[in-house]
Amino acid sequence: MTRAAVLDRPGSPSRIEELDLGEPGPGEVRVRMLASGVCHSDLHVRDGEWERPGPLVMGHEGAGVVEALGPGVRGLHVGQPVALSWLVPCEVCRQCRSGRPWACQDSPSFRHRMPDGGTRWRRTDGQEVLTYCAIGTLAEAEIVPAAAAIAIPDGIDPAAAALIGCCVATGVGAVTKTAEVPAGSSVAVIGLGGVGLSCVMGAALADAGTVVAIDRVPSKLEAATSVGATATILAGDPADTVEQLRDLTDGGPDFVFEAIGRTETIELAFAALPIGGAAVLVGMTPIGARASFEVYPFVDGSRRILGSNYGFADPSVDFPRYAQLHLDGRLPIDRLVDRRLSLDELEDAFEGLRRGAFTRQVVVFGR
Ligand SMILES: NC(=O)c1ccc[n+]([C@@H]2O[C@H](COP(=O)([O-])OP(=O)(O)OC[C@H]3O[C@@H](n4cnc5c(N)ncnc54)[C@H](O)[C@@H]3O)[C@@H](O)[C@H]2O)c1
Ligand SMILES: [Zn+2]
Ligand SMILES: [Zn+2]
Repeated sequence: MTRAAVLDRPGSPSRIEELDLGEPGPGEVRVRMLASGVCHSDLHVRDGEWERPGPLVMGHEGAGVVEALGPGVRGLHVGQPVALSWLVPCEVCRQCRSGRPWACQDSPSFRHRMPDGGTRWRRTDGQEVLTYCAIGTLAEAEIVPAAAAIAIPDGIDPAAAALIGCCVATGVGAVTKTAEVPAGSSVAVIGLGGVGLSCVMGAALADAGTVVAIDRVPSKLEAATSVGATATILAGDPADTVEQLRDLTDGGPDFVFEAIGRTETIELAFAALPIGGAAVLVGMTPIGARASFEVYPFVDGSRRILGSNYGFADPSVDFPRYAQLHLDGRLPIDRLVDRRLSLDELEDAFEGLRRGAFTRQVVVFGR
């Protein structure tokens, strides 16, 4: 039996259950989980802001070691440390064939099942349980498609390795891959959870000039400074925030990253743009949310809006690269982890996320 966090249906509390985990099928691996971050996307699902099927094993930001290989798996061995990718490419759609796995149109991750349509989880009464994004990381062990298990170098704290699988890939990639921020640019980041702080780290890595970090929780501003922000704004009245941002960036930042997913902060990002500036939308809203902007200055001022899914990650290339940058001291991922907890404390972690109380909470297994 394997302990896992199960959500019966979005909008209901998660529960820790003992489930049967089967054997890895062809092209699959079993991973002994060591750590799983708790991302705001898990909270969107937990709170019913995104419609998802259930019951499912939760979590999508995890790392562990390979424990067993299914038939035909190559390139991985038992004992290999891995970080898991929540977007398993189908490898045949137009986007995958064009080298854009982050834009895959037919990923098994969308169905929360293995590529063959099955699931390896069963309740004791035989009911099948799905696995979030085909990797459900909030479990002691998991069976995942081999394409989701990305080998990373030895010697990385599993909590930091877990974060590579979502917030780091998302935030660092939004800056360096989606926006391709040139050295010396001015950057603002609104919202300083794991995703926003990773945008800040990405801006420092890209050698941005001014990096302004914005949040409504004061402790988040200190965290941002510790990973590379050069200035901070405590968010209050949106018009005030825009004015302070303009003062700090000579009329407005070249790039604004919105890492919350709220209509009012998305519109704040648009309002802060100078001529030629770009708003990069990283935060995810509840389904159906709409934001608006005045069209004339966007066109007249050549302003841009970019959407960024998964930081345009090509996990097999980017995860080992981010891991090595961390080992080289250029991505201080460990500074994002400010609470380690056990699986039984997951609902409390969700409550912490609602309050914006932590930078990144990580469930550590075997505690
Ligand atoms: N694009 C992607 O591929 C992708 C990947 C992962 C997560 N996400 C999304 O990114 C968003 C952020 O995720 P996270 O895990 O970092 O979340 P988080 O909850 O840890 O961080 C959000 C931060 O925003 C701050 N905040 C909230 N309202 C604010 C306001 N009005 N003004 C200023 N600050 C405010 C909070 O204090 C908190 O620090 C979520 O919507 C998540 O679903 C997107
Ligand atoms: Zn996430
Ligand atoms: Zn595809």
